[in-house]
Amino acid sequence: MGKNYRIAVIPGDGTGPEVMREALKALDAASQKTGFSTEQVHFDLGGERYLRTGEILPPGVLEDLGKFDAILLGAIGHPDVKPGILEKGLLLELRFKLDQYVNLRPVILYPGVETPLNDKGPDDINFVVVRENTEGLYCGAGGFLRRGTPHEVAVQESINTRLGAERCIRFAFDYCRKRNYRKKLTLCGKTNVLTYAFDLWQRAFNDVAKEYPDIQTDYAHVDATCMWMVKNPEWFDVIVTDNMFGDIITDLGAMIQGGMGIAAGGNINPQGVSMFEPIGGSAPKYTGLNIINPVAAVAAAQMMLEHLGETSAAVLVENAIKKVVSTDLKSLAAGRMGYSTTEVGDLVAKYIAN
Ligand code: IPM
Ligand code: MN
Repeated sequence: MGKNYRIAVIPGDGTGPEVMREALKALDAASQKTGFSTEQVHFDLGGERYLRTGEILPPGVLEDLGKFDAILLGAIGHPDVKPGILEKGLLLELRFKLDQYVNLRPVILYPGVETPLNDKGPDDINFVVVRENTEGLYCGAGGFLRRGTPHEVAVQESINTRLGAERCIRFAFDYCRKRNYRKKLTLCGKTNVLTYAFDLWQRAFNDVAKEYPDIQTDYAHVDATCMWMVKNPEWFDVIVTDNMFGDIITDLGAMIQGGMGIAAGGNINPQGVSMFEPIGGSAPKYTGLNIINPVAAVAAAQMMLEHLGETSAAVLVENAIKKVVSTDLKSLAAGRMGYSTTEVGDLVAKYIAN
């Protein structure tokens, strides 16, 4: 008998529930095939609930979520809710309070998937971004002075702690070693302008690097990182960076790996509960049409399996993703796949089962 995992499922907003159904199909197919089981508990959180009841993260829910083996999240964000409320009150709150201090985002181009980089292929686009996930500009430090007046001041501070940078950097070195690919870790920062924040990062990076003589180290400013990601993505293996830069470069990463239809990420607390999500958002304009690509959500489930140590199940799911994107889908874009959301989920589940 395989293990049983308790999975908290947050379908969330927009197309979140649609892609989540397909991710769970893949998860169930993988569990049947390889012999573990899951108990899935659904949580009604997101914009709909907020508009209905005014609740974002009701008391006790955080504690409940903290007791699961993992969390699978669809999408957060609602067109009728002012920007920032759900993002800060739910998504970032979960990341912060569950201390998911790494946001792990693979940028891998699968064979047969179209990339806007003309002369680049799967051998060139294969790296992972380790984004710090609890600090930096995201921590909400700052405020207004004289708001709404001509003398208005807005301050938004980037908080960088040695502990926060160092634990993220150490995770990145470990990950790079385990990945065992090019064995190269690049620090992405802005040491020429952000001379406090990235001085701290650079010193932490150099100190931790001494413990990993087998890993080659490199540094690139964030603007140059964007340039190399387009021009020479093959230079990267693992990139470690702060929260804001990581947010930006991983959207660029998603585009070069085939788009939001395939990009997934994990919010990792190595000592606690981690949360996996497609990174594309709630895509309100595609909601309810059964045309959104669920592969990114399936890829999130695959990352979850890997994290839980269900390696053979993760490999099955990854192979099913590779097969569906290379042989079936006409495009990874919503509405242009040649199949509906549910049909893509069925194909993935079929490939896992057989
Ligand atoms: C992401 C998203 C979030 C972020 C938003 C929705 C708060 O863009 O996961 O990258 O900025 O982290
Ligand atoms: Mn983002």
